[in-house]
Amino acid sequence: MNNFVVAIDGPAGSGKSSVSKEVAKRLGFTHIDTGAMYRAVTLYALRLGIDLDDENAYSFINDLSIIYKEGKTFLNGEDVSKEIRSQEVTNHASQPARINAVRDRMVYFQRESLKIGKVIMDGRDIGTVVAPNADLKVFLTASAEVRAERRCKENELKGIESNYDVILKEIIERDRKDSTRKIAPLKQANDAILVDTTNLSIEEVINKIIDLINERLGK
Ligand code: CDP
Repeated sequence: MNNFVVAIDGPAGSGKSSVSKEVAKRLGFTHIDTGAMYRAVTLYALRLGIDLDDENAYSFINDLSIIYKEGKTFLNGEDVSKEIRSQEVTNHASQPARINAVRDRMVYFQRESLKIGKVIMDGRDIGTVVAPNADLKVFLTASAEVRAERRCKENELKGIESNYDVILKEIIERDRKDSTRKIAPLKQANDAILVDTTNLSIEEVINKIIDLINERLGK
């Protein structure tokens, strides 16, 4: 088997990235976090001080280099992995994600990385737009409350200060923006398997996805 693509989509804080990262590690796949790429564009746009909702302000997008490699995100060669997790970037991340030119460029980068071989890619539109022919599609969900709790714990571990009520509000707002936007909205693909992780531990979710991959591989 040279090529196998797993698409993991789901709302903010559903555990997509942590689960995908661990599954990739255990099975020898390459993990690509596409949210990190949208966050990098957001950081760049915030630094420039442009109006994030103005689609004409993104003329820089085709000259921007964004690389996600081995868990790190590089913006024009600079490692921005920590900075893209700041509250400011998080709060604004769904704005550039609504711009056509931004999505076209990200989808181009993402499709290029699917050529690597065995890839597990997580995001919002992987099963629907980026990799409609993926070998396995999973849609991860969980209640907004559980997702907010998880995000608080994750931040704590990273030494980032966080407030449960603020995070819950932010998650609900981002879900609303991501699900109602015109292009590539957050949506479960028809052929994706729904996994509700509200009452599952991260280990249980990881094992479930590994079982699904092995099933598809006929193991
Ligand atoms: O980690 P978290 O669930 O908080 O979000 P993320 O995956 O880092 O994504 C940040 C933002 O990028 C999302 O709120 C979406 O607006 C956007 N995004 C997207 O539009 N399409 C993707 N494939 C991935 C992220």
